[in-house]
Amino acid sequence: MSGGQTLTAGIILAAGEGTRMHSAHPKVLHTLAGKTFLQRVMTSVTALNPELTAVVVHHQADLVAQAARSYDSQVRIVRQDSRPGTGRAVQCAVDQLDGELRHDGQVLIVASDMPLLDADTLHSLLDYHVSSGDGATVLTVNLDDPTGYGRIIRDQDGRVLRIVEQRDATGTELAVKEVNTSVYVFETDLLRQAVRGLDDSNAQGEFYLTDALETARRLGRVGAFAAPDPLKVEGVNDRVQLADLAKAHNLRVCREFMRQGVTILDPSTTWIEDDVVIQQDAVILPGCFLQGHTEIASDAVIGPYTTLIDAIIEPQAKVERSRVQETRIGARANIGPWTYLRAGNVLAEDTKAGAFVEMKKATIDHGTKVPHLSYVGDAHIGHDSNVGGGSITANYDGVHKNRTEIGSEVHVGAGNLFVAPVQVGDGVTTGAGSVIRHPVEDGAMVYSTNDQHEVPDWKPAWER
Ligand code: UD1
Ligand code: CA
Repeated sequence: MSGGQTLTAGIILAAGEGTRMHSAHPKVLHTLAGKTFLQRVMTSVTALNPELTAVVVHHQADLVAQAARSYDSQVRIVRQDSRPGTGRAVQCAVDQLDGELRHDGQVLIVASDMPLLDADTLHSLLDYHVSSGDGATVLTVNLDDPTGYGRIIRDQDGRVLRIVEQRDATGTELAVKEVNTSVYVFETDLLRQAVRGLDDSNAQGEFYLTDALETARRLGRVGAFAAPDPLKVEGVNDRVQLADLAKAHNLRVCREFMRQGVTILDPSTTWIEDDVVIQQDAVILPGCFLQGHTEIASDAVIGPYTTLIDAIIEPQAKVERSRVQETRIGARANIGPWTYLRAGNVLAEDTKAGAFVEMKKATIDHGTKVPHLSYVGDAHIGHDSNVGGGSITANYDGVHKNRTEIGSEVHVGAGNLFVAPVQVGDGVTTGAGSVIRHPVEDGAMVYSTNDQHEVPDWKPAWER
């Protein structure tokens, strides 16, 4: 860290109820692009290496605390009491962390309902704060529509005087477009003094953290730093704002991939989470959800209407209209349309899992095709085999999951049933409609009979 900069603490405010979400779940555990708001904000704050990171909880405290610990086992949990407000949250934090906060250095305070807040923005804020020599700095943003946000009130010389909340603002104050993002840096000792005197004499009857700036101004200098990228500091109070923000973020992600050489036919229906990797010349058709740690190699074609979760797709594979979870798909494989690949499949190169095929923990060796209407679960099929339409592995006996082993260069007739556990050797041919219950030797032909009975001149009941 550069001179003068010692980040004593990062305090994340996550105690609010999030009333405007109208949700049984805490607001900070709602997700944007697959990660909770809390996880996103914690990741950005810890990237600044504060000496300690604290999360303030109250509403559904245990749930939020548990989530926070799952993201960072070192995190300090601060419990806010029943007195409401962002100011009260910081008072509780300062009280409960007091022995651990050094006297010099800075404290970063961050609301947790700003899921796109990034470490770059926080770094710039901290650098600005330290070089300005101010006692406190608020991160601001200029908005065309500032409705709902606290307005930054400055004097004639442009110095920050205070922040006034929407509900406490006069007509002229409401016209101000520069707003508070709810991110602040305070000199540690100044913060202690500034939050001490807070009260709840305002329209909402809450302890406002924003009022601490006024005290800070009386004790020192207060400054403001405008966020370089307004999207990164947008707050989410309701689900309309969440949808708008997720959409704007996703469009950026898609555009970045396009600039790097990925073809995305329709970015407005393509949803890509942050940890996804896509190599150049991959083609993403409309309606795809690329999630988790999915990786897509060059020249693969994905979609339309495909969901990939933690899937690894090798070059030139084609995955259409399917759902793929924790699965590895080899080069030139052809998946879909309407294929459902659940966890743990490995499809080698030049394989096929075709229309209305479901697989789970299936290992399909190179060149093998399962083209139509099949279920392959807990099974291994060797290379260059073909499975006739409508064939099923009966892997569940009501208690255990059992394995099916099918060899290489096997021709499975249509409509076969493999009653696991069962092994079929290499080079086997099975007749249509066979029920395979017993091991089959290499090179054999196997069929099971299924007598055909014919009732002449039969009439359905309603005709009789
Ligand atoms: C707050 C700011 C406002 C700013 C806006 C930016 C205040 C008084 N107002 O308003 O100036 O423009 O954020 O989005 O600070 N929280 C607690 N304990 C509480 C209440 C809230 O920890 O008792 C947490 C919430 O979980 C949330 C954050 O503080 O993460 C902000 O609370 P919220 O109610 O969303 O504040 P806003 O009304 O948006
Ligand atoms: Ca808010």
